[in-house]
Amino acid sequence: MGVPEIQVARSEDRIPTYVAGLDERLGGGVPKGHLVLVSGPPGSLKSSLVFRILYSEAIHRDASCLYLSMEQSRESLGAQMRALGMDPGKAKGVHVIDVRALRKELEEMREQPRWILGLRRQLARYKEELGCDLLAIDSLDALYALTPFENPRNEIFTFFEELRDLQATSYLVAEIARDSTRFAKYGVEEFLADTIIHLRLREMDAGLATTVRRYIGVVKMRGVNHDMDYYPLLVDGNTFEIVSE
Ligand SMILES: Nc1ncnc2c1ncn2[C@@H]1O[C@H](COP(=O)(O)OP(=O)(O)OP(=O)(O)O)[C@@H](O)[C@H]1O
Ligand SMILES: [Mg+2]
Repeated sequence: MGVPEIQVARSEDRIPTYVAGLDERLGGGVPKGHLVLVSGPPGSLKSSLVFRILYSEAIHRDASCLYLSMEQSRESLGAQMRALGMDPGKAKGVHVIDVRALRKELEEMREQPRWILGLRRQLARYKEELGCDLLAIDSLDALYALTPFENPRNEIFTFFEELRDLQATSYLVAEIARDSTRFAKYGVEEFLADTIIHLRLREMDAGLATTVRRYIGVVKMRGVNHDMDYYPLLVDGNTFEIVSE
């Protein structure tokens, strides 16, 4: 099983996206410590892109990574990643925690219904036990479904602040409709995040048929003068790459 190659000079303060062609345009990748919102409709490769980043960092830089899979079971996620040329068993530094385990642990705390409190403690514990250079929450929407909000803006603000306290580079997956003008459910996440990676699907004519093409764009990256274009995103076996002139 191949490991995604690093396409640009390694910079200690950046985490590559491992999308060939894109990292050059971002000066090496996402600045370490950023809260990264990864937004896109179903099938736009959100989980694959994020898992691949954690997987590659675990293998290339010995990073400890936590992947909270709130929707997909560990088995289903593993099968999807194997189809993309990764072998999750090889990346010992990536700890996948699926929602069933997390839910159970949260329930055991018998504290209702402050999921933020429960999750914060949980993450702090994981960090202590397993380390947490990179964190993925897949998805925010599934996390939100665990408990209703009283005041979403406030609670999300607090939650994001607590994620920052972990001092990890965090990838928060947001499920949005194809035509959404927001990047996440409450419209506040996009202002709180440091970076937004937007995965788009667009319908195109292809002769008599129509097809759907994937695009990737970085619409925000604090502290970086980055490229704002959307590029076609191609997946070929183990390779993710953008098409550019
Ligand atoms: N081996 C493969 N090569 C290329 N593309 C693949 C391969 N296996 C799966 N895919 C594509 O990956 C897509 C699923 O990717 P992924 O699960 O990362 O998307 P997602 O944005 O997380 O979706 P969801 O919103 O449903 O969670 C599939 O719809 C399929 O088009
Ligand atoms: Mg997914």
